[in-house]
Amino acid sequence: MRTECLYSCYLFDLRSKIWYKFGTMADIKEKIVVTSALPYANGPIHIGHLVEYIQTDIYVRFLRLCGKDVIYCCADDTHGAPIEINASKQGISPEELIAHYYREHCEDFAKFFISFDSYYSTNSPENKDFSDLIFSRLRDKGDIYKKTIELTYCPQCNRFLPDRYVKGTCPRCGATDQYGDNCEVCNAAYATTDLINGYCVICHALPTRKESEHYFFRLSHYTDRLRTWLTENSLLQEEIKNYILHWVDSGLKDWDITRDAPYFGFPILDDPTKFYYVWLDAPIGYMASTKHYCQKHGGRFESYWEDGTGKIIHFIGKDIIYFHFLFWPAMLMGSGFNLPSNIFVHGFLTVNKEKMSKSRGTFITAREFWQKANPSYLRFYFASNLSRSITDIDFDLTDFKDRINSELLGNIANLVNRTLNFSKNKLEGTVTNPDKTEYQQLLDQKNPKIMSDFENCEFRSAIRGILEFGDYANKYFQQREPWRVIKENKEEAGKIVSTCIHWIRDLCILLKPVIPTICQQLETQLNFPDLTLQDLGEIISGHQIGVPKPLIQRIESLDLIGKGIN
Ligand code: MSP
Ligand code: ZN
Repeated sequence: MRTECLYSCYLFDLRSKIWYKFGTMADIKEKIVVTSALPYANGPIHIGHLVEYIQTDIYVRFLRLCGKDVIYCCADDTHGAPIEINASKQGISPEELIAHYYREHCEDFAKFFISFDSYYSTNSPENKDFSDLIFSRLRDKGDIYKKTIELTYCPQCNRFLPDRYVKGTCPRCGATDQYGDNCEVCNAAYATTDLINGYCVICHALPTRKESEHYFFRLSHYTDRLRTWLTENSLLQEEIKNYILHWVDSGLKDWDITRDAPYFGFPILDDPTKFYYVWLDAPIGYMASTKHYCQKHGGRFESYWEDGTGKIIHFIGKDIIYFHFLFWPAMLMGSGFNLPSNIFVHGFLTVNKEKMSKSRGTFITAREFWQKANPSYLRFYFASNLSRSITDIDFDLTDFKDRINSELLGNIANLVNRTLNFSKNKLEGTVTNPDKTEYQQLLDQKNPKIMSDFENCEFRSAIRGILEFGDYANKYFQQREPWRVIKENKEEAGKIVSTCIHWIRDLCILLKPVIPTICQQLETQLNFPDLTLQDLGEIISGHQIGVPKPLIQRIESLDLIGKGIN
């Protein structure tokens, strides 16, 4: 017998107790690779980055809970001019610099329970091989050509300067200290040479222009294919799709995919004087990370990237959509690899409604956060704020404290605490039959929507559903007064408490993607290790619970916002 849920395509098979999407087993075993954008190996992970890794991790954990065959792949993005320049400033090699950040990033991610199956590096042999392969396939098709262009050059440093390494006065509004590509004050876009009193950020000399021959990728050849791919993909967020289609329609420019020495990156195939531009080999890092995983764990790389049977799902921030929706799919199309099924875009994190800033003391690193506060709280807070919209998310310390204390603690932990303690102290910790109608009604009312919200990355709504669920259970406990009922009818009191324990077990399952370690403690207290979606809705009469303990601590005070530096 199967019951169909209201809001999504999940079917719950009562005999096998498995949730089927579209009811097919084949669907469950499809190979899925999910990625987050690769953080630069040039600085610490901060709580802005964590929006993305937490969002992706919740999604991946949800898929795993559903029994999907999914791997989560990521890596450090190690190449580019800034990494080379920073290393040389510190008197170390780029390899040493990226090794330092690799260790630090891995440690930070682990603290926030980001469950990568593969966390690799773009400075890897696999990545070099795939970059050469893709480059050669595109070149052999005639999609790569050489052209001489004029670039900004520092005669004192003997290097070409990326736009960000030239500063000066904005030619339009006169604001000082503006970057070489656009003015942050008046938004004017210009060339580095247009700046008034432009200077090299490294040595302060006056930059000049110099010619150099570079390789270009004919992005313009892919205009129609990109338009079709974008239009036909119903999973993409509409907001983003319209944005990109607008770019496509206004004409795509070919892309300069090489850089001159000194550069930290891979020398290109058959021309070691040039290097692949970091944005060429960075997304290829998704493939290299998958390949590395397959080599270690015996999977087939092809089933993710070549057969057309698997699925590729990327999570990225809104600042890097151009690369992911235009260059990247065009590169994949041209070299015969699978295209992403979905690219999910999120907004930016602000702190107190403003861009994070070192001078305002609002640049909060992952490390500072985990040293001072419980990382699960940030997971819960971000989940409560994430949706399919790409509007920015604000981290507000007061709101953060309030939500943890009133929702996670006041609602969920409170329900757990009073129910399990009552059960242990007054009912020997034995679970009996719940009030079946009551129990099933709440579950059926809340669960399908929560599930479809997780599936659609509407985490804010999923959390709302979970909290309404918890709220109802709390009220039920309060109104049925098991502490009074037990004086006359122990069996009836047992039924009331058992109804709540059944609900708690379901809430634990639903919260696992969001706060996995808190749920693990709860599983121990419930004496049900490793709950899965198959356990949802199961009657557990006769079960003996474990030892109740307070699940989490109240936040009394928290100083995360620093004084700022000037
Ligand atoms: N290295 C590139 C990505 C290459 S992917 C092939 C990059 N790195 S990054 O470190 O700057 O950013 C990594 C991810 O974190 C990006 O998706 C970016 O949008 C996201 N975020 C960085 N700062 C953020 C906020 N303040 N808020 C939300 N996301 C942020 O871009
Ligand atoms: Zn210079």
